[in-house]
Amino acid sequence: IAASKDNKNLIGFEAIPTSTEDKVIVPKGYQADVLISWGDPLFKGAPAFSQKADSKAQALQFGDNNDGMTFFQITDDRGVLSINNEYTNHEYLFAHQGKEMSADDVLKSQNAHGISVVELKKVNGLWEVNLEGRLNRRITANTEMELTGPAAGDALLKTAADPKGTQVLGTFNNCANGETPWGTYLTCEENFNGLFGSKESPALDSNYTRYGLNTKGSGYDWFKHDDRFDLAKNPNEPHRHGWVVEIDPMNPNSTPKKRTALGRFKHENAALTINNDGHVVVYLGDDERGEHLYRFVSKNKYNPGNSTANRDILDEGTLYVAKFNAKDGELQGKGEWIELTFGKNGLTKENGFNSQAEVLIFARKAATQVGATTMDRPEWVAVNPKNQSVFCTLTNNKYRGVKANQPVDAVNPREKNPYGHIVRWMPSGQDHTSNNFDWDLYLIAGNPTVHEGLMGGSDNINADNMFNSPDGIGFDNAGRLWIQTDGKYSNTGDFAGMGNNQMLCGDPDSGEVRRFLTGPIACEITGLTFSPDQKTMFIGVQHPGEDLAPSHFPDGGNTIPRSSVIRITRTDGGIIGAA
Ligand code: FEO
Ligand code: CA
Ligand code: CA
Ligand code: CA
Repeated sequence: IAASKDNKNLIGFEAIPTSTEDKVIVPKGYQADVLISWGDPLFKGAPAFSQKADSKAQALQFGDNNDGMTFFQITDDRGVLSINNEYTNHEYLFAHQGKEMSADDVLKSQNAHGISVVELKKVNGLWEVNLEGRLNRRITANTEMELTGPAAGDALLKTAADPKGTQVLGTFNNCANGETPWGTYLTCEENFNGLFGSKESPALDSNYTRYGLNTKGSGYDWFKHDDRFDLAKNPNEPHRHGWVVEIDPMNPNSTPKKRTALGRFKHENAALTINNDGHVVVYLGDDERGEHLYRFVSKNKYNPGNSTANRDILDEGTLYVAKFNAKDGELQGKGEWIELTFGKNGLTKENGFNSQAEVLIFARKAATQVGATTMDRPEWVAVNPKNQSVFCTLTNNKYRGVKANQPVDAVNPREKNPYGHIVRWMPSGQDHTSNNFDWDLYLIAGNPTVHEGLMGGSDNINADNMFNSPDGIGFDNAGRLWIQTDGKYSNTGDFAGMGNNQMLCGDPDSGEVRRFLTGPIACEITGLTFSPDQKTMFIGVQHPGEDLAPSHFPDGGNTIPRSSVIRITRTDGGIIGAA
């Protein structure tokens, strides 16, 4: 994928070094301030942050572990930020560190998950939280939602509480996000499996195990106090999670909709673009070792003049999964999108699929059936607004070359891939509905101070910009690619000299990558969105001090660390990232 033009001035800030400090550092001429942190009040009169807060207090406060987010500007001085609260760290949520969970503790944990819709107002030129905003809203693991699209109402989605299979409570493990030109927010359900478990010993077939569901859960213990999460009592409840949810942030009374046409897997983000011919195309990663990369193409076309006409456009369309083919001996080649439609490509009764609903509910199994390429954990996808090329972070994969279904191949070229890479493809004819594309690797992360060859990274990686485990990515309007990391921060061995997790800025044409931001101790940097004038950027610091690492971000002293949204501006009021 050749450079489309030579734009030497695309990136205009001075790169910063790595850091192991317990703070956010940005380049000279930039300012980074905390906008809101876990447990801060979200409504006027809501209680201030305290680790002792109960479930009721948490429901009125900003959720934990902020991840993907989108800023929607309403007027010159009013806007709303829709922010995922992916999960929570019980070691900080409770003084008992999650070791003695009560029923109210489970409810508090559920209320720390979901989405926070935060109204902002501009004060002295800076966006600030407006506690009086009428759009402020918490969506939690118990908020009423609707299941829509081809799988809604299917027998596999029916429960005792919902005999129709169309009403579901809550969303959780909302990792990254997307947004639509009709003004809605897309939030993506990722590691939902960990909240389920059982006090009994139900037999779990591959419909469960393929999604990582097991009777023990991942330590949250919701199933011990809330039968909805007990796999023996409610065997269909997990099938109602793992979807992309569409939310109208402008209407705090609206019912979020789980769009089943986009398939069920561990969704990372939803990169939505309007194709030249008006079809809505959504690229979707499934973040798990050896899982796949998907594409949805809407049946109907986007109607720019009538936003209500687009309201349910994500309910009808076709889901595809990617297959990457290699040019002999090269880390590039051609690829194809394989349709996941019942009755086609072996998705038949003989192979265990009885309907389109089953293809969507068990999309991972359908992808395997059609021979999709197993990938090194597809995280975020982003579409380059300048030329329609598409980028996806493949964060790392210790099973590559180790498990039989994950052989080393051209698009996943390193055994045990400890550093991650970024694949890029160009749809044939720059048409996102084409089933063919050309791909190459934009970047291979590595450590050139420790390794030679592929483990040292691609040519655009050097001692001054190295990092590991790219995760969040997104383009700004000028076509700068922002890259966030969720990697190892040991700063030793294979990761020597990489410091804390960080954000970098890439030029998609020249390949140049510069470090823009470093985060506090044991955090991940994730989530990015811009004001429409591109003069404010919001990013997320997630789980500083995870696993009880010694962080006190953002409050300092002896405080417990808190995930936070960071507002970045330039002291000269200029465009973020530009010269
Ligand atoms: Fe929630 Fe794949 O990161
Ligand atoms: Ca995360
Ligand atoms: Ca992520
Ligand atoms: Ca990650």
